[in-house]
Amino acid sequence: MERTLVLVKPDGVKRGLIGEIISRFERKGFNIVDMKMLRMTKELAADHYAEHKGMPYYDRLIEYITSGPVVAMILEGEDAVNIVRMMIGKTSPSESFPGTIRGDFSLNITVNIVHASDSLENAKKEMKRFFS
Ligand code: CMP
Repeated sequence: MERTLVLVKPDGVKRGLIGEIISRFERKGFNIVDMKMLRMTKELAADHYAEHKGMPYYDRLIEYITSGPVVAMILEGEDAVNIVRMMIGKTSPSESFPGTIRGDFSLNITVNIVHASDSLENAKKEMKRFFS
């Protein structure tokens, strides 16, 4: 069994998509082992997106992710990291297929509804970051 971290980002919360997103993961068979709503501070956002620092979209990304509450959750299931990443869809809107969360609900590369850990190593770090 694997665990991974998912965030419903501020646009997902504002658009009333929390239930839709949780429901997709539940129907797939994942267990929600922890969950909370929080407003990310600039410090938490900078830590979470440290590897993006220096990118042209970085300031916009920090502004956006701190613009309203997010819902953080830990999902548990077989091959969770890979399967959850597949379910959220690619970052680029032109590559996120219909049927995925981003493919169904987002047209923007930064304002993109959800985040999910991209590796087992990052999942461990991110779960600690949000659920210390
Ligand atoms: P996320 O999966 O949370 O991880 C990093 C975030 O940075 C990503 O979702 C997008 O919100 C944003 N991002 C990644 N690449 C780009 C890009 N090329 N242009 C704009 N925003 C990006």
